[in-house]
Amino acid sequence: MINQYIQSNQKRFLDELFELLRIPSVSADSRHKNDVRHAAEYIAQKLKEAGADSVELCETKGHPIVFGEKKINSSLPTVLVYGHYDVQPPDPLDLWTSPPFEPVIHDEKIFARGSCDDKGQVYMHIKAFEAMMKLNQLSCNIKFMIEGEEEVGSDNLGTFVKENKNKLKADVILISDTSLISLDCPSITVGLRGLSYLEVEVTGPNRDLHSGVYGGAVANPINVLSQMIASLHDENGRVTIPGFYDKVALLSEADRKKLNEAPFDLKEYKKDLNIDDVCGEKGYTTLERTGIRPTLDVNGIWGGYTGEGAKTVLPSKASAKISMRLVPNQNSQEIAELFTRHFLSIAPQSVKVKVIPHHGGQPAVTPTDSKAFKAASAAFEEVWGKTPIPTRDGGSIPIVSLFKNELGLDTVLMGFGLDSDAIHSPNEHYGVKNFLIGIETIVAFYRHYSK
Ligand code: BES
Ligand code: MN
Ligand code: MN
Repeated sequence: MINQYIQSNQKRFLDELFELLRIPSVSADSRHKNDVRHAAEYIAQKLKEAGADSVELCETKGHPIVFGEKKINSSLPTVLVYGHYDVQPPDPLDLWTSPPFEPVIHDEKIFARGSCDDKGQVYMHIKAFEAMMKLNQLSCNIKFMIEGEEEVGSDNLGTFVKENKNKLKADVILISDTSLISLDCPSITVGLRGLSYLEVEVTGPNRDLHSGVYGGAVANPINVLSQMIASLHDENGRVTIPGFYDKVALLSEADRKKLNEAPFDLKEYKKDLNIDDVCGEKGYTTLERTGIRPTLDVNGIWGGYTGEGAKTVLPSKASAKISMRLVPNQNSQEIAELFTRHFLSIAPQSVKVKVIPHHGGQPAVTPTDSKAFKAASAAFEEVWGKTPIPTRDGGSIPIVSLFKNELGLDTVLMGFGLDSDAIHSPNEHYGVKNFLIGIETIVAFYRHYSK
């Protein structure tokens, strides 16, 4: 029945999603402030149309949070669906084969910024809700909390959660904002990494200098910054910040073995990325390096002359944005402090160094023995005919640990994206099949969860 409903409404579902994808809700860019709000209003309206009783835009110091609710019976469990309607900036624009906010279907995939992360996945939940309402199958109370600041660190969500504990009362959190192993091999994410993000600025002389007149005698902040950054890893690919690994939870040999049993084809992985080899911390597999080990990466670096041609200059400043992905039981603030202390300590006297903290988030692991996890697992079995494999994803969704700490609630990470969907990248896409089967799997989750 649900199948039929999805099939006969498929075109409308996609049309509606396309309308959402056309709204450039880039939370990081203040020029898009109104677009971000517009996306929130669209989500709110669609929740209403799908049958939610109360829907509101909850104002924050930043972008609004959409909250919607359908209460059918207080004796039934309540599921709180979380997702985000904001998207990453589409840059670099010239690498897109079609404009980022003009969705098109190619090769049975929807190409647009946000198609997978996370508008497409949020929309599956709204349509699953609509279907359950229309078919009179809704077997749980539902709450929706769809925010607009996930891609910029969810700065105001913490306050909202703390101030609205009653409103957010639920039995479980359900999130679709992660990836599957593949369409042939369903999986449920059971771990996410945390994040600590900082910016560093190295200042040498008080002004840009002629690199011939002064070169060799005055510290070049770009040279210095490069050396400092290079020193943050040793020859075994380990991060050299003192204390960095102190709190890293080690997995038992049995758990490591299990993690590595997940299907993973290193050859395919390299081929997909057009690299001849992978790299990382010695002694760990690729799945471990992204799943259970912490990392440090430069996300951007600038300074000096980058325009056309050659300009001889010894620049006054150089900067970089640095992120560290964290695993249990590392703490985002603590790691930011360790980084800061270390980075300042390795600065030569010839330069001044500033460290500016950005956002962060705690790592999370979710239980596999809960009623909700079992319901999700049963839903995959029913719809996909396969038992989903628990996986640890390398990305971060800081709200997961916040939900646990503030509301005492566990999360089920039922994501339907693929690692190859190019989220945060040019040509982000989302399989039409993923979208449709996702709706079906979500509906099955509710059925199993209310049993
Ligand atoms: N949906 C992603 C996180 C993700 C992607 C988890 C794929 C697992 C698999 C989320 O929107 C995201 O991009 N989060 C940011 C963190 C945030 C604090 C900016 C990230 O991971 O960089
Ligand atoms: Mn996301
Ligand atoms: Mn994202």
